[in-house]
Amino acid sequence: MTSTAPAPVVGRPVSRVEGPLKVTGAATYAAEFDPGPGLCHGAVVTSTIANGRIAAIDTAAAETAAGVVAVLTHRNAPRLPYHEHKGLTDPAEGERIHVLQDDRVRHQGQPVALVLAATPEEAAYAASLVRVDYRPESGVTAFSDAVTHAVPPGPRYRSRGLEGDAGRGDADTALGAAPVRIAAEYDMPRYNHNPIEPHATVARWQDGVLTLWDKTQWVDNVRAEMAAVFGLPPERIRVVSPFVGGAFGSGLRPWANVTLAAMASRHVGRPVKVVLTRRQTFGITGYRPRSAHRVALGADRDGRLVAIRHEGISETSTYEGYAEEQLGTSEYLYACRDVATRYRIAPRSVQTPNDMRGPGKVTGVHALECAMDELAVALGMDPVELRLRNDTIVDQSTGLPFSSRSLRECYQAAAERFGWGRRNPEPGSMRDAQGRLVGYGCASATWPAMRQAATARARLLPDGTAVVSSSSSDMGPGTYTSMTQVAAETLGLPLESVRFELGDTRMPVAPVHGGSWTMASLGPAVQAACAQARDRAFAMAGRGDVDLAAVLPRIGEPVEATVHTEPGEELRRYSTHSFGAVFAEVAVDPELCTVRVPRVVGAYGVGRVVNPKTAHSQITGGMVMGLGMALTEGTEVDPRTARPVNSSLADYLVPVNADIGELDAIFVDESDPHVNPLGVKGLGEIGTVGVAAAVCNAVFHATGRRVRELPITVERVL
Ligand code: MOS
Repeated sequence: MTSTAPAPVVGRPVSRVEGPLKVTGAATYAAEFDPGPGLCHGAVVTSTIANGRIAAIDTAAAETAAGVVAVLTHRNAPRLPYHEHKGLTDPAEGERIHVLQDDRVRHQGQPVALVLAATPEEAAYAASLVRVDYRPESGVTAFSDAVTHAVPPGPRYRSRGLEGDAGRGDADTALGAAPVRIAAEYDMPRYNHNPIEPHATVARWQDGVLTLWDKTQWVDNVRAEMAAVFGLPPERIRVVSPFVGGAFGSGLRPWANVTLAAMASRHVGRPVKVVLTRRQTFGITGYRPRSAHRVALGADRDGRLVAIRHEGISETSTYEGYAEEQLGTSEYLYACRDVATRYRIAPRSVQTPNDMRGPGKVTGVHALECAMDELAVALGMDPVELRLRNDTIVDQSTGLPFSSRSLRECYQAAAERFGWGRRNPEPGSMRDAQGRLVGYGCASATWPAMRQAATARARLLPDGTAVVSSSSSDMGPGTYTSMTQVAAETLGLPLESVRFELGDTRMPVAPVHGGSWTMASLGPAVQAACAQARDRAFAMAGRGDVDLAAVLPRIGEPVEATVHTEPGEELRRYSTHSFGAVFAEVAVDPELCTVRVPRVVGAYGVGRVVNPKTAHSQITGGMVMGLGMALTEGTEVDPRTARPVNSSLADYLVPVNADIGELDAIFVDESDPHVNPLGVKGLGEIGTVGVAAAVCNAVFHATGRRVRELPITVERVL
């Protein structure tokens, strides 16, 4: 680079490049695409029983209602081939529901009819006229019944390393001999993702090609699944999804709205739009499963862990055995010789859960980190000191060294910023100016740093600009922006001269936008494609040039490179994870027992930070989700009917601005040369991990009440 080259842009707090499109309403979300003339609006009719069959379905009134074009039920819907398809984000075991293919009802809220009309209002009204008679069968509606016949994860999960029973040594003997031990049970409700953009699909068949405008985190998988469902070659399907209004994992699998829109559009020969209502998202899409945990910890008198036993159980459906890694963290977060974990899934007459931000870890770490606080109290030890005393540089579950681990630095940085030193360890000993009980709590956070194969294309244009593309998604973390930064820096072009495109199956294939691995996976592909295109342009110019913007006009034609990158050997030689430490302050009204959280401070070791601004937003957004988990959220499922009761944003309480105090995220200096060529670890999910535990632990410190069931409602603090 010469002295005239632009300053480095990786590491700069660049504002979102697509921000102006979003705040001016110019960004087009799935339901906003105009597929051309003849658009029909589809309204979904959903089941009102948990298990059974459709005995009769009367669509006569709906069919004659104003504006109605067609009513599809299992009796007249086209039979679809439904070839086998297992995407990475599908449950390993079982088979998805085949939409409108038979009279079988397996959960509340399952689609049983689709009404197509000229306007959304006409469709919704006609849908209310569809009469369905059911022949109910007994089902497993209560979680308490489901857990009595829980089973280990199925064989396909076990082949991926998710065992029902795992660990090392002899935890029971070690527990029995431990001089200090605690045991406790922790319950977490179901959580729904509740992105503000509802799930929606616009479908159009034209010249033998099915185009789907869909809300998704993975356009290539929507194409693959629809190819299987309809028995089509993938080349005849295009999926477009340039903007996603939040997803948190709810866009990882295609839901019934995609199949319904595509099926109905082909049936009536017109484009069809299907938008789920908020209530329908509680029945048709996935959710973080309800879970129950039991943790026993043993330590010597100096606070060194000698035994961990962690058991967890979570709900799944009767037709898919969804499992997630809830207990793995208990095997590697701390040094401990004897560890036993036992994980079971409980089939219930509900729809299948799916990954929600920090899946498994959010749940398992909550239980472990609440238990660590209970152990600190039993030891009479500072909870930060307890974590540091059990720090380890080796992942004892695999024997591999961590590629980098800054847990200690995170605790030090966050404790300092938070003012942990002001804490009087005695519960109930601190008050604020309003007389409220004040508590300080902390917890560890962690998330695996993973990487997938990815492909990107760089196209350099004669006007001195570049267009870089890959089929990825940007559900909010800032993929448009961070990829533009990596591309601009590699090309030596100003940010304004680079445009990054995503969200279309016509682009080179990106991995699923999830797992906190987009930067680690796609970043190296973008970097490599840009480097190859740049070198190609310089070779074509041939005069030892170093200024790409000057070279491109002379070449006079586009210069292109497409590069596929794959993870290397590094993941076999190292254990790769992000770590963090999160501190929360609570203020509890001594009479009303209401809990407020004035402050959360987290520090994280996430490798190189490509964009401190979007990274900070990711972490604080994750903290908000953690505060919702701690204080307000939870899907109430009626144990008699398995129906979600609070399926609206008025009743399912996502935190609002007034619920949130100061949030602060610190990134400690961490250089990881092993994890991937960019040295980045993910940070999309770790921000949610540990937050609810820090709040619960702070509530104990404030009040002496140990709340082991979430959310922390007034009656649980009383
Ligand atoms: Mo994330 S739960 O993999 O979208």
